[in-house]
Amino acid sequence: MKPYSESCEKNQEPILAVLREIFAGRTRVLEIASGTGQHAVYFGRALPHLSWQTSELAHNHAGIRAWLDEAQLPNVLAPLSLDVDDAQWPVAPVDAIFNANTVHIISWPQVERLFAHISRVIEPGGCVCFYGPYNYAGKFTSDSNARFDAWLKSRDPDSGVRDFEAVNSLAASCGLLLQHDIAMPSNNRMLVWQARP
Ligand SMILES: C[S@@+](CC[C@H](N)C(=O)[O-])C[C@H]1O[C@@H](n2cnc3c(N)ncnc32)[C@H](O)[C@@H]1O
Repeated sequence: MKPYSESCEKNQEPILAVLREIFAGRTRVLEIASGTGQHAVYFGRALPHLSWQTSELAHNHAGIRAWLDEAQLPNVLAPLSLDVDDAQWPVAPVDAIFNANTVHIISWPQVERLFAHISRVIEPGGCVCFYGPYNYAGKFTSDSNARFDAWLKSRDPDSGVRDFEAVNSLAASCGLLLQHDIAMPSNNRMLVWQARP
């Protein structure tokens, strides 16, 4: 059976509206942590000019494959096994990267490794889009994000909603310059960086 995420169902249309603009001139997207595979199918179908490469931890591949097998989209590619803890990512360079809802799930050292991988995979001038909740000036942007953070930390003390400033400074140290910080529904953001040309 295909895995299903209610939050993907809710956020996919607002995310697509942003990606239509941001990925308009792009050709090859690497999606990091594709989750169920729903986003890949939705965005890949709506943006057929893109080759959309899914990736995930190996134990989630069967679910992604179930979505891809049903959708039969020629531009959405079967998942690569990419773990942020791997020493190397065997990925050809891409001109765009998309990730949703992962930096608050993994630990901060893993976020640092994630950006190190991204800096090696993204082409000069390429575009990196991160969707999810962020804190600003050390403050939650809503009570619901504060509750979400408490819930995350009750499961894993190393997880939690990240500070925009810390993530953006990490991105800058990897040669990624902030282009947009877009308000999204349900107190989420879309952060868009461009790799140094
Ligand atoms: C909250 S889910 C988000 C999934 C999907 N992007 C979405 O928005 O529905 C977080 C994802 O991070 C992935 N993840 C956790 N640890 C990881 C790691 N060490 N390397 C790569 N991905 C990881 C999980 O497998 C999971 O799919």
